[in-house]
Amino acid sequence: MYSSDLDPDHLPGHVAIIMDGNGRWANSRGLKRNAGHEAGEAALFDVVEGALALGVDYLTVYAFSTENWKRPADEVRFLMGFNESLLLRRKDELHERGVRVRFIGRRRRPVPKRLVELMEETEGLTAGNTRMTLGIAFNYGGHAEILDAARELAHDYAEGRLKRIDERALESRMYDPEMPPVDLLIRTSGEQRTSNFLPWQAAYAELVFVETLWPDFNRVELEKAVVEYQRRERRFGKAVDKVVVVRG
Ligand code: IPE
Ligand code: IPE
Ligand code: MG
Repeated sequence: MYSSDLDPDHLPGHVAIIMDGNGRWANSRGLKRNAGHEAGEAALFDVVEGALALGVDYLTVYAFSTENWKRPADEVRFLMGFNESLLLRRKDELHERGVRVRFIGRRRRPVPKRLVELMEETEGLTAGNTRMTLGIAFNYGGHAEILDAARELAHDYAEGRLKRIDERALESRMYDPEMPPVDLLIRTSGEQRTSNFLPWQAAYAELVFVETLWPDFNRVELEKAVVEYQRRERRFGKAVDKVVVVRG
């Protein structure tokens, strides 16, 4: 299924996506914002299929941020119920596809207890899968994650369980300690910001911003973003001379 522009040997190992633009998608059709969240489900599952077909190891999606509690109460309530229903309806399908699901974020109030239990059930069900890991960021904030990790680190240090404070020590206290660095970070809907998503893990990610609103995004668009990623030169601070020979 590869487009001819895609190099199957240089795939991003970890793709992270800020699924944005649901509200605008709905409003532009004369619908309420919640209809946009509902329409986003098909985009998510198409992208999961696309990522599986490409052979991406880690896909992390931003579903609800620590800042999203500021939205109107009825939208927040809808999103809690919608995510619960999505997991109930589709966790078995994710399991059958060989996807390991992991949630990142704070798993406590005001996230409903029923939803937290369902997250844990989904993680347990899919824990042994190895085709791809789908990270779902829910009640996730990058500042909260680093703060939670730092608190645990300080506690372990004070108790004498930790001798050296280094990057590894902090990383191993993140919500998913196995999460690799983000290679490609995609945001839909034309906004060019990262909104508190994976600030530690995406420190060296290639950023791709697309105009498409999330419900219109799909596996073809994912592939295009990967092609764009492959055009970039990742330097990680290094430098090499590429002298152009000038004949004269
Ligand atoms: C993203 O779409 C979904 C969530 C943040 C839950 P939005 O709801 O932010 O849609 P816009 O940005 O208002 O169009
Ligand atoms: C980021 O989108 C959060 C999610 C996609 C879940 P927002 O729509 O909440 O971000 P801002 O408010 O435009 O920065
Ligand atoms: Mg938005």
